[in-house]
Amino acid sequence: MTEYAIRAENVVKRFGDFAAINNITLNVPKGSIYGFLGPNGCGKSTTIRVLTGLLHPSDGKVDVLGLEIPRQSELLRLKIGYMTQKFSLYDDLSVEENLEFIGQIFGMPRSELKVRINEQLKTYGLDQRRKQRVGGMSGGQKQRLSLAAATMHKPELLFLDEPTSAVDPENRREFWEQLFDLSDQGTTILVTTHYMDEAERCHRLAIMESGEIRADGEPET
Ligand SMILES: Nc1ncnc2c1ncn2[C@@H]1O[C@H](COP(=O)(O)OP(=O)(O)OP(=O)(O)O)[C@@H](O)[C@H]1O
Ligand SMILES: [Mg+2]
Repeated sequence: MTEYAIRAENVVKRFGDFAAINNITLNVPKGSIYGFLGPNGCGKSTTIRVLTGLLHPSDGKVDVLGLEIPRQSELLRLKIGYMTQKFSLYDDLSVEENLEFIGQIFGMPRSELKVRINEQLKTYGLDQRRKQRVGGMSGGQKQRLSLAAATMHKPELLFLDEPTSAVDPENRREFWEQLFDLSDQGTTILVTTHYMDEAERCHRLAIMESGEIRADGEPET
């Protein structure tokens, strides 16, 4: 029997009269890379915000990692990582300071935090840049740091909202290698994208249009 990290049933999110997501049903198998493909404004980010518990759905049922969302969102917070669409780390802090700050938010003890930061800097090829201020870094480097930050606390489930929109093709490929590594380690990943080639790399794919899921299945190769 397939175990699911996310089960969402007939979920609606209205802003006033406008339904940004309209009756979507979604099952994300544990350990899979699940892609969300769709044009601007179709509701990808809104869906992620509802699944993480940041937005309350207007209707429908949401179960994430066995927790009822939004009621149990607070318990979910420590089990998930969320890389937002816009870069959301501190430009004025160094690479290392950003990771330290995130680790503290997640309540990691100092000794563990130091070890984990070194591990992350190595995994994401940032150990030479640990003292560098983030403001001056390239798009690709910032995205790698964002992924390092989102995975500091080893979340079971990772939400990535257009993680490679500011990244060139070479760095995008490398970024996806990192996602496959995380997936191999058992992390479930929900990732939104505009790129067909990225969509094809997902284990499962949902195609969204005007707040609805038009198709859902394994990408055809
Ligand atoms: N807080 C809000 N209040 C009102 N309307 C909103 C709000 N958030 C999103 N919307 C609307 O809901 C729709 C879906 O937005 P959403 O950001 O989820 O799309 P998206 O698929 O992530 O788009 P993009 O690819 O541009 O990131 C859009 O029409 C947007 O204007
Ligand atoms: Mg979006």
